[in-house]
Amino acid sequence: MNAALRSVVRSAHFHNIECVGYFRGYQGIIENDFKILDMRSVSNILESGGTVLKTARSQDFLMPEFRVKAFQHLKTLEAEALIVIGGNGSITGANIFANQFDFPCLGIPASIDNDIYGTDFSIGFQTALQTIVESVDKIRDTARSHNRLFFVEVMGRNNGNLALYSSIASGACFVIIPEKKFKISDLAKRLKLGKALSKTSSIVIVAEGNNHGSCYKIAEDLSQVFDEYESKVTILGHLQRGGAPLVMDRVLASRMGLSAIQALLSDKSNHMVGIIDGKNVLTSMKDVVEKQKTINQKL
Ligand code: F6P
Repeated sequence: MNAALRSVVRSAHFHNIECVGYFRGYQGIIENDFKILDMRSVSNILESGGTVLKTARSQDFLMPEFRVKAFQHLKTLEAEALIVIGGNGSITGANIFANQFDFPCLGIPASIDNDIYGTDFSIGFQTALQTIVESVDKIRDTARSHNRLFFVEVMGRNNGNLALYSSIASGACFVIIPEKKFKISDLAKRLKLGKALSKTSSIVIVAEGNNHGSCYKIAEDLSQVFDEYESKVTILGHLQRGGAPLVMDRVLASRMGLSAIQALLSDKSNHMVGIIDGKNVLTSMKDVVEKQKTINQKL
């Protein structure tokens, strides 16, 4: 997100547009908590994870009266547009705000879950994936040495993209994702087959939002029908949301920041920027909110 913020600010100044940054997302607009972002204010942030503006899941913004307050603060500043960097919740907020006040808003998709319609990849996904795969590589050392089965839980409340890609990249034998109904018997069958083929250790990647339950429950339920492995559970948790962004995320975020400014300059507000098949695209925020990004069935 820092790379996107830097790109927005630098691109804006290139076009002689002034910027302010609100702290903690919508909550900062409601509380009028902002700072002026000049060219130098975004120096040395490209390489750091998280966001220097901080973030929050604002409950207040869900209420119209607080949005009125936010709108008044933007008006007092004589703001002409709002750029929102965030996931589905943030884009939904921007869409509501844009419609309620007829105020130009532009979205930049940032979510490690890669669950936002209108872009092949959202900011943070590649970096989180790399962290997951490096972690599984390390876990595999124990799995292999002790002949164990490891369940590794990754993030993804409603979506299995992190699990899907990381399972391919780490050579996992099974993946459990929210998009596909999972049965313990299918996993047992797969593990039995592995054993029959002389497999001595296994990795199963579990998306947190799967239909069966927690990673511990899956391990426990499996042990009732298949106990040929000693099994262990690792929940990667917020490890996945931090760390220096990968090159691909820095480039993606930098392109999207520029694209957001260009869109506003050509009067294309109330859209979200995205990159599909390598090309910059704009998708109406209405579509982003209403349509669902589906997983790639081929994967
Ligand atoms: O960014 C989305 C997400 O990573 C989900 O996959 C995960 O469930 C959630 O965030 C965790 O959010 P929080 O840090 O607010 O608990």
